[in-house]
Amino acid sequence: DKGAFDHYMLKEIYEQPRALAATLALDARHRVADELFGEGAAAVFDKVQAVQIVACGTSFHAGMVARYWLEELAGLPCQVEVASEFRYRKRVQHDNTLLVTISQSGETADTLAALRDAAPGDFLASLVIANVDNSSLVRESDLVFLTRAGVEIGVASTKAFTTQLVALLMLTIALGRRRGLSEDRATDLVNALQRLPEYVQETLELDRDIEDLSEAFIAKHHALFLGRGIQYPIAMEGALKLKEISYIHAEAYPAGELKHGPLALVDNNMPVVAVAPGDDLLEKLKSNLEEVRSRGGELFVFADRQAGFASEPRVRVLNMPHCPEVVKPIVYTVALQLLSYHVAVQKGTDVDKPRNLAKSVTVE
Ligand code: F6R
Repeated sequence: DKGAFDHYMLKEIYEQPRALAATLALDARHRVADELFGEGAAAVFDKVQAVQIVACGTSFHAGMVARYWLEELAGLPCQVEVASEFRYRKRVQHDNTLLVTISQSGETADTLAALRDAAPGDFLASLVIANVDNSSLVRESDLVFLTRAGVEIGVASTKAFTTQLVALLMLTIALGRRRGLSEDRATDLVNALQRLPEYVQETLELDRDIEDLSEAFIAKHHALFLGRGIQYPIAMEGALKLKEISYIHAEAYPAGELKHGPLALVDNNMPVVAVAPGDDLLEKLKSNLEEVRSRGGELFVFADRQAGFASEPRVRVLNMPHCPEVVKPIVYTVALQLLSYHVAVQKGTDVDKPRNLAKSVTVE
C-alpha cells in the first residue's frame, strides 16, 4: 500500500529514518555486538586479514563505500568486485579473506553463483548482508546480517542501500575493534550512527528544494556526477538512480579524472552534479568545479551547509545538514534519490517499474 505517496519509491525513500533506526536497533547495547552477524562470528572476525566484497548494481556501490571504511578504520585490505566479473576470472586471494556478499533480495543469480563457486579453502568464511530472510544467499552463507529495511517494492533500490551501508559500517566497527580502532573512535562512530535517522530526516525536509533543482534536468540527455573519496561511489549510485528511472544518460567520475577525458563533454547541455566531501578533499573538489564552470557547464553542488559553498551564476548549491563525515555517504544518497525521483516524475516515466528492469535478477 502506497499510503499517501504517489509511488512506492517515494514511500520507501521516506521510510529511511525508520528503516535505518530499525537496523541500528539490532544492536541494543550500542556496542556493535559480534552476535549480530551470526553464530561463530567472533571467532571468524578474530582471524580476518582481508575482505573481498562481491555484489551487483546498487549493492555493489554499497561495497565500494565499505572499502573506504574497512581500509581506513579497520586497517583491512579490501577488494570490491561486481559478481559477474568476479565469478569468471582467475583470482589470487590473501590468506584469511572474509568473503562478503551484499544483496537486497538474496537471490541475485551472479552474486549467488559467486558464493557457490568460491572454492572451499579460498575464503576464511562467507558473510552475507541481505534484506530478505531465508533467501538463497542467507541460507548458503556462514554468517548473516539481515538489514531491517522492510519490503522494498520499487525496482530502484533506496532504503535497502542505506541500510546496507549501516550494516557495513557496523561490520567495520566490529572488525576495527580487533585491529587497533580506539574505543574513543569506535564510540564516536557508534554515536554518529545513532544520529543518522535524524540527519536523514533533515535531508527529507529539503525535498521541495531538490524538486526545484530537478527541473533543470528534464530536458537534458546527459548528466555527469562527480565525487571524491568516499563520495565517489555515492556519485556512482546517484548516476545509476538517474539513468534507471529517468532514462537520462548519467555517468559518475572521480572528480580528479575530469581533465583526463570527460571535461571534453562539458558544455551548457551537460548538468554536472557534485557530491562534496567535507574533509581535505573539499578544496580539490572546488578547483575541479571551477574547471566545469569555466567551460559553461551548469553545476549542482550537494554540500555541507558549513562547507562554504554559495549559489552563484551557473552554480546551484543544495545545503545539506551538517553531520559527521562518516555518515555523509548515507545522508547524501537520500538527496540524490529525491533528485532522480523528481526528474523521473516530471518526465512521466514509470518510476516504480522502469522499462526493461526487474526487481530481482535471478537469471544471468
Ligand atoms: C538498482 C538496483 C539494482 C540492484 C541489483 C542487485 O536500483 O536495484 O542495481 O541493486 O540488481 O540486487 P540485489 O541487491 O537484490 O542483489
